[in-house]
Amino acid sequence: MKKIVLTAVLGMFAVMAIPFSASADVTSLRGDLELDADSKAYEKRKQVTQKGGFERSFKLQPPMIPHKVDKDKITLKTNTCMRCHSAANYKKEKAPMTGESHFLDRDGNKLKKVSARRYFCNQCHAPQQSADPLVENQFVGAK
Ligand code: HEC
Ligand code: HEC
Repeated sequence: MKKIVLTAVLGMFAVMAIPFSASADVTSLRGDLELDADSKAYEKRKQVTQKGGFERSFKLQPPMIPHKVDKDKITLKTNTCMRCHSAANYKKEKAPMTGESHFLDRDGNKLKKVSARRYFCNQCHAPQQSADPLVENQFVGAK
């Protein structure tokens, strides 16, 4: 019993220690500003677009958005992404159709309209910017 308690306590210390050691080289997005100081405005960055789309890092990755989306709107009443990506329009617009997975409800039933679980496209699909990564990343995708 004593051993279990000791292991649990040591485990807790180990977990608490991780954030301190891992954050040593990371600068916050706000830089070294005092907490009550106003942060500086971001420098404007251009969106990176790419004909043919971006390569995926793993099979089921939501592909990144390769075109401008400044004028697109996703509201209760309208989703302008579906003007090009819906089953009805994708051929005419030469756009890839939203995958079948986007038309399934949580019980796996096929729906006629895009599922509410996939309605907010930019929850998973993001446009890209030419920003340097905040921390070094050694992730290697599995194809
Ligand atoms: C005017 C038509 C149009 C609209 C509106 C549009 N798209 Fe696209 N989309 C395209 C076309 C065409 C491509 C293919 C581009 C290419 O491969 O060069 C594409 C590609 C994509 C891809 C990449 C797919 C892949 O497999 O690489 C994603 C993700 C995407 N769009 C998401 C969106 C989202 C999210 C919105 C709304 C915010 C949106 N699109 C609005 C036409 C459109
Ligand atoms: C919950 C996350 C999620 C949301 C929300 C979502 N997608 Fe996707 N999307 C994915 C994933 C994961 C894939 C890749 C696997 C697949 O096709 O299911 C994908 C694939 C795609 C593709 C490429 C299909 C192909 O066959 O190459 C397009 C285009 C796309 N999504 C458009 C959209 C649009 C438009 C919306 C909004 C109506 C949307 N997605 C909402 C996760 C999402």
